[in-house]
Amino acid sequence: MNTFIFKNPEIVSNKIADKIIKIVNDKPNAVICIAGGDTPLPVMKELVKRAKRKEVDFTKAYFVGLDEWIGLDKNTRGSCIQTLEDNLYAPLELKENQIIFFNGKANNLKKELDRINKFIQQCGLDFILLGIGMNGHIGFNEPGVNFSSDAQVVPLDNVTTTVMNKYFDEKLPLTEGITLGFKQILNAKELVLMATGLKKADIVKKTIDTPPTNELPATAIKLSKNKTSFFLDEDAANLL
Ligand code: GLP
Repeated sequence: MNTFIFKNPEIVSNKIADKIIKIVNDKPNAVICIAGGDTPLPVMKELVKRAKRKEVDFTKAYFVGLDEWIGLDKNTRGSCIQTLEDNLYAPLELKENQIIFFNGKANNLKKELDRINKFIQQCGLDFILLGIGMNGHIGFNEPGVNFSSDAQVVPLDNVTTTVMNKYFDEKLPLTEGITLGFKQILNAKELVLMATGLKKADIVKKTIDTPPTNELPATAIKLSKNKTSFFLDEDAANLL
């Protein structure tokens, strides 16, 4: 596993965008997964900018969602799909069939899990961009997670239900998430964990220093047999 440290979030994002663009230029129908949350926003912006400049063509690529809050869909500002839709999918003018995303409002969640599991089983993931939660979660794989799980519905950890307020206009009574599981994440052909800002420095150091344990979910990425890297800015790498 490699760790790359760059001066600021903008440079980190440009480097990750370079990677995604190369993957899609080499394989136009690549399957890409980009986490929601704040961290990947500048990557999305860069991808849109470069697609507009015709440096890459996303018209044949597929975009898989990493996770969603149970009870939310694109009508709630701050939901994962809304973040991806507004910042990436809509500006790229993706067609509906190019987007494979959990519906957090589905009546039948078992069916929803089956739908996503089936797609990943058939197509796999060529690239996944992950963020890291303040408790070390990946997607909604919270502490205690089973590393060999497919997509699953999980109760949210206390840290997550506190931190989540930053995404929403009002307090929401959310208690569960739906997420790709580590079995799928670790099988991605290339995996990048991105972290920026001083507030991530402590959890980044813990993740790098700790052998794989389900108490700190992000440590699971060390178990991937595929290309895996940390992309950090100097602030997130401050304690290394
Ligand atoms: C959120 C999401 C994750 C995200 C992580 C970090 O709760 N479930 O997909 O990667 O936590 O979020 P942020 O980038 O906003 O710090």
